[in-house]
Amino acid sequence: MMTAITQLQPLVDPQARRKVGVIGAGAIGAGVIEVLARGGVEGAELACVVDVHPVSGVAAPQVNLAEAIRRCDVLVECAGQVVVRQHAAEILEAGVDLLVSSVGAFADDALLDSVVAAGPGRLLFTSGAVGGVDLLASAAAEAPFERVSVTSRKLPTSVLQPWMDDATQDRIRTTTEPVEVFRGPAREAARLFPRSLNVAATVAFAVDSFDLVEVALVADPAAELTTHVIEADGPTGVYRFEIANRPSPANPRTSGVVPHAVLRSLCVLVGRPVRIV
Ligand SMILES: NC(=O)c1ccc[n+]([C@@H]2O[C@H](COP(=O)([O-])OP(=O)(O)OC[C@H]3O[C@@H](n4cnc5c(N)ncnc54)[C@H](O)[C@@H]3O)[C@@H](O)[C@H]2O)c1
Repeated sequence: MMTAITQLQPLVDPQARRKVGVIGAGAIGAGVIEVLARGGVEGAELACVVDVHPVSGVAAPQVNLAEAIRRCDVLVECAGQVVVRQHAAEILEAGVDLLVSSVGAFADDALLDSVVAAGPGRLLFTSGAVGGVDLLASAAAEAPFERVSVTSRKLPTSVLQPWMDDATQDRIRTTTEPVEVFRGPAREAARLFPRSLNVAATVAFAVDSFDLVEVALVADPAAELTTHVIEADGPTGVYRFEIANRPSPANPRTSGVVPHAVLRSLCVLVGRPVRIV
């Protein structure tokens, strides 16, 4: 099948292949590893895998992060905010490009400033579970938005957090009706729900403001699909995107589409053309 990814001529030497390491071999990482291992991203070669747990059945060595930095041109983070917080600057300082899934880590301004100042490696965020961020970023470049909101609806078990007390966890777990578990600014959302609200952070980066984006998170026992409603109002236009993703069978907190979003982002990072960016 001819895909959009293979329709355009490469911009870089067709023989050149960038060595890619994947950090985190869970729901997202396993999908990324599988496609890379069979040569599914032109110009990229799976060099190694990093995980705190043993990973089996992967056609690349499992190494520690320091070794991955030595072996790779690009590292793909699919592990969680902690890895971004602890290692993003170190990776970029070593001249390795970093593609981030856990975008919410950068709700912390101090971290963002230090990582942006690091280099020469390049930092890229995947659009992950949402769409429309290209249009929002284009509109925000014309003029700042006046109002932006993200309403996410997920299964109750997907929104539980270790910091919630037992009574709150029970109330959410056993609810028979939709219950709003959070409403507030995107920065707070990304901090309190680090595994669940990367989407809010992604929208915040698109509209260039964490303070503007109002987030609501609803635990809904009937939410077979994870939905995100993104609404934005500004001088450039009025936008509304509704996304309903099927959860990943490997991890219901993550949408099944995310590994493919990461792979598209990787195509851009390794200099291979995609028709729509
Ligand atoms: N941008 C988006 O739209 C989006 C969507 C879903 C998830 N995410 C982010 O992606 C991350 C991964 O999601 P997932 O569903 O694959 O999670 P997962 O729990 O299924 O897999 C995470 C993997 O990372 C490994 N890991 C954890 N800490 C590590 C460390 N310090 N070093 C190396 N490996 C480590 C775990 O052992 C596990 O194998 C999430 O934590 C979330 O922050 C982003």
